[in-house]
Amino acid sequence: MTSEAVRAVRRPVPQGTERRDTWWLEPLIVVLVLGSFIIYTTWAMLQGAYYHAAPYLSPFYSPCLAANCAHVSLPIIGTWWTLTPALLIFWIPLGFRTTCYYYRKAYYRSFFWAPPACAVPDAAKGYSGETRFPFLLQNIHRYFFWPAVLVVIFLWWDVIQAFRFPTASGGVAFGMGLGTLVLLANSALLSFYTLSCHFARHLCGGYLNQFHRAPLRYRLWHIITRANEHHQLYAWISLFGVALADLYVRLLAMGIIQDVRFF
Ligand code: FES
Repeated sequence: MTSEAVRAVRRPVPQGTERRDTWWLEPLIVVLVLGSFIIYTTWAMLQGAYYHAAPYLSPFYSPCLAANCAHVSLPIIGTWWTLTPALLIFWIPLGFRTTCYYYRKAYYRSFFWAPPACAVPDAAKGYSGETRFPFLLQNIHRYFFWPAVLVVIFLWWDVIQAFRFPTASGGVAFGMGLGTLVLLANSALLSFYTLSCHFARHLCGGYLNQFHRAPLRYRLWHIITRANEHHQLYAWISLFGVALADLYVRLLAMGIIQDVRFF
């Protein structure tokens, strides 16, 4: 680059940015979608009701750990817990998504305007990246990976339960309804999102210096790398998937809709 070109690149931009396209559309959509999701999940989790419509359990309440659950997955919290059971587990997906590398980019751009788009200046004057509190805490993402995997395992257990329908005589019968497919799709999407995590990629072999000494880990790393390329997509569709799965179970439990039973 010539020195003239460098001067042209560095010259101050008079009105914040010279971009004339709709660069603000993406941050606006992120604010609307993420904001709506946060409002809906907060309401659904604090409600503490309508999260189970046999044999379906809302993913916002899984695993259900307290004795006051409508459908207990793992009874490790006694009757002393009287608040909504969702509060016992919500910190896992919240912590995992909030510290996710992709979501960080999305909400830094849209909520903090840091920066809102390429070639658009930051809203804040100073820039310290993630070197100071509280953003320094984003480094704990890798530790959230493990409880997030546990939650996904429980969600697959819920899918198995979603094939077991209660009968009039008090037993259970094998069957499949639309809710079964909804929970199955949700678990699959959350699995893709979780296993395509940057930390999962590192864990499988990202730290290796010589792949030829670990061919199995190389194959695994290669698969996760392919999935990791679509991590942003999985982040969004799993977000919609989990909200829709909760909504489906909630509407069933409230008696607003009827499940479609295939057999
Ligand atoms: S980087 Fe997104 S879940 Fe780990």
